[in-house]
Amino acid sequence: MAYFLGIDTSTTSSKALIIDEHGEVIAVASSPHTLQTPKPLWSEQNPLEWWDAVSASIRSVLEKAGIGGESIAAVGLTGQMHGLVLLDETGNVLRPAILWNDQRTQSQCDEIHQKIGKEKFIKITGNVALTGFTAPKILWVKENEPEVYAKAKHVLLPKDYIRYKLTGEYAMDKADGAGTVLFDLKSRDWSNEVLLALEIPRGWMPKTFEGTEFTGHVTAEAAALTGLKAGTPIAAGGGDQAAGAVGVGAVEPGIVGLTVGTSGVVFATTPSALIEPEGRLHAFCHAVPGMWHFMGVMLSAAGSLQWYRDALAPQMSFDDLLKEAESAPAGSEGLQFLPYLSGERTPHPDPLARGAFIGLTLRHSRAHMTRAVLEGVAFGLKDSFTLIQNAGLGKITQVRGSGGGTKGALWRQILASVLEAELVTVNTTEGGAYGAALLAGVGAGAWVDVASACKDCIKITGRTSPDPTQFNVYRKSYSVFQSLYPALKSSFRDM
Ligand code: XUL
Repeated sequence: MAYFLGIDTSTTSSKALIIDEHGEVIAVASSPHTLQTPKPLWSEQNPLEWWDAVSASIRSVLEKAGIGGESIAAVGLTGQMHGLVLLDETGNVLRPAILWNDQRTQSQCDEIHQKIGKEKFIKITGNVALTGFTAPKILWVKENEPEVYAKAKHVLLPKDYIRYKLTGEYAMDKADGAGTVLFDLKSRDWSNEVLLALEIPRGWMPKTFEGTEFTGHVTAEAAALTGLKAGTPIAAGGGDQAAGAVGVGAVEPGIVGLTVGTSGVVFATTPSALIEPEGRLHAFCHAVPGMWHFMGVMLSAAGSLQWYRDALAPQMSFDDLLKEAESAPAGSEGLQFLPYLSGERTPHPDPLARGAFIGLTLRHSRAHMTRAVLEGVAFGLKDSFTLIQNAGLGKITQVRGSGGGTKGALWRQILASVLEAELVTVNTTEGGAYGAALLAGVGAGAWVDVASACKDCIKITGRTSPDPTQFNVYRKSYSVFQSLYPALKSSFRDM
């Protein structure tokens, strides 16, 4: 029996997961990371802490599975996207990694648009420059820490730092490469034009690979630390969203992935390098070789419910809160919730956007407020869903839900009715780590391609149909929701 290992270096932890050649999960282990926010808007982590957590998780998952490193046929990598890891000539970390949720780089984003021209930048990279992405972070270091910049020789993303520690190779997958916005989306590699305009040396950027390709092999040193066998191949893998899409089988046009985790993501595979002309959707390479994808990202999805419960009902369990919310009618009797608690990305790329309850009256109870949170998040996700529907992709045949927010029946029902689409759930719940393990399995030849691996391993376990009796109330509520951000935008700025 061959086994495959998926490693996910997320913001909160590093997870290691072993599957067998039928896609069965054999064991999972995870070790936590700390997060540093030394200044307002900053979000950083120490890459060496990731490596310690990954090594511990690999040792632990092998032990739990009761197998030796020699049984692992290949390893796939995934992790938080966009984070800047800067290394010197000999591979030493130069400063803490600047993460995907760091918001310090608005002026560098403006500078990028100014230097290259926003329209042209979207045409080349498929995206607008956003504070979360990697390119503006590199400029920020250049402008604010010139002594660090002077020593820089390698740019990596979080998962690729782990790859470097495992293999000694500077390499990156194309899905995550595109998320730096230094990529030529169509040619699936670094854009010399963008690099030149931003004066970022081409030599700093690693070689890029398709998700199932092998990028190197475990070194003797890494083998001694992790328990893996020296020489084990490491597949490119993909950023957490692309690998997560593989993990739920969202690998062909028509099947849309809907993740309701801390953040919320609507993900759609595209067969060519399609872009949304205003750059309102992210357009990146997929971890599936030769495919691309659109993505809309909401920064606080289940994170909104978590905040709401922690701030207003800490004594209640989520189950009890959601049970109570069932007593409020669809549309929450006019109460609206704006989920922009950490600013927003899609469709309002605005770090200064804010959350709000709007329309409170004496009639509204906690049940209404809870339901309004669930509905506000669903409306925000519909914004991305609608952009994807209008992006020339063809018919959406299925929406595959994942993440904590799709576990409860009420939120699933609200999502299906607001999106007016059937929402299905699948048997695989380990997200990106599972997708990364499948990508490694395909690389090792256990399946002929990613679509076959997904077909073999991922099964539909539940279906939630939209409720047509709620369409009218939700259409009306959604149209009010859409009017609120434009009306409040300048107040948010003043706040
Ligand atoms: C995607 C994104 C997040 C991070 C967090 O664009 O920023 O999914 O990768 O894990």
